[in-house]
Amino acid sequence: MSLINENFMKLEDSYLFSTIAKKVAKYTQENPNKKIIKLGIGDVTKPIVPACLEAMHKAVDEIGTAQGFKGYGPEQGYEFLRKAIVENDYKARGVEIAEDEVFVSDGAKCDCGNIVDIFSSSNKVAITDPVYPVYLDTNIMCGREIVYLPVTEENGFIPELPKEKVDMIYLCFPNNPTGTVLNKEELKKWVDYAKENKAIILYDCAYEAFITEENVPHSIYEVDGALDVAIEFKSYSKTAGFTGVRCAYVIVPKRLKGYTKSGEEISLNKLWNRRTCTKFNGVSYIVQRAAEATYKEDGKKQIKENIKAYLENAKIIKEGLEEAGFTVYGGVNSPYVWLKVPEKMTSWEFFDKLLEEVNIVGTPGSGFGAHGEGYFRLTAFGTKENTIEAMERIKNWK
Ligand code: MLT
Repeated sequence: MSLINENFMKLEDSYLFSTIAKKVAKYTQENPNKKIIKLGIGDVTKPIVPACLEAMHKAVDEIGTAQGFKGYGPEQGYEFLRKAIVENDYKARGVEIAEDEVFVSDGAKCDCGNIVDIFSSSNKVAITDPVYPVYLDTNIMCGREIVYLPVTEENGFIPELPKEKVDMIYLCFPNNPTGTVLNKEELKKWVDYAKENKAIILYDCAYEAFITEENVPHSIYEVDGALDVAIEFKSYSKTAGFTGVRCAYVIVPKRLKGYTKSGEEISLNKLWNRRTCTKFNGVSYIVQRAAEATYKEDGKKQIKENIKAYLENAKIIKEGLEEAGFTVYGGVNSPYVWLKVPEKMTSWEFFDKLLEEVNIVGTPGSGFGAHGEGYFRLTAFGTKENTIEAMERIKNWK
């Protein structure tokens, strides 16, 4: 008899964005003539930028030749990309990362989910609430104890340090779903906490390219001491439009230590490398060449333009909602806008009303956790035209 991992029974029946997709598909089927504007899941709408396309075409041609053919690549990623990451994403910000601390992958969602493999299921995990559901669900799957850290209007969306001792801490800034940020001083408190408690911070900065304000760290390693306590996740999905192409990376500094039950210090970089070599055969050469192109001059410029356009959408949403009388957060350093739903309405009730009455799809705050109840998320990743139309619909909504 094959027993199941019963921790799965503690999960919601369906993943948040699958539930939404099902609801929208049903509504579309029943109302085929309605033009639905999707500002729900954070999927991009701008096509892959020319610099990346060109790199991909070139790589495709290359692997069709005897000299250029590539079989299994290095599990951790090709040297050319790891080098480009170290130079552009870290050295340029004054952070020293070694190439063998970079692990190229097929997405930050997978990385955030897979990293749990190297930690004991007896670890206590602190997770902000509301939160990107992947951190929570993957830890529930392992049976870990969760400590929730509310991030709401009342605390200015700044999580408080846990009152009890935790071993792993998930932080995501610019935050998904609230679109809010932490400054360097606030982030330093977490680094200090992690040091004191021998905890590890799992820092997801998938949205760092959207930061517009000063004193907001783009990487946790900009904070003193973070190289001793943090693993960082970064993605090309929302910058280069790789939500379908799939490429991301994890930084696991060699100074990071975990512990055996007897207290022996073990290198987390070594464990993650071991796990990666066993379970992964690397990202395709073609995709890694495309990722490398994001660091070339034309690639950088093209991506910057896309981000600027998404941030303009965020501004349109923020101002449109404010004009319509909503209280709104985020949208300044982030593609996500977090609004308060009208009183006496739940997030899911607002979702249904918005879909049925003005044909706009968003994400109910309660889908991100209990403290997301009463809130709602809209994304700036739609087209400008649809974003403007969505705001017009909301402003004229009775
Ligand atoms: C979101 O909408 O929260 C993101 O698109 C989900 C993801 O990146 O997996």
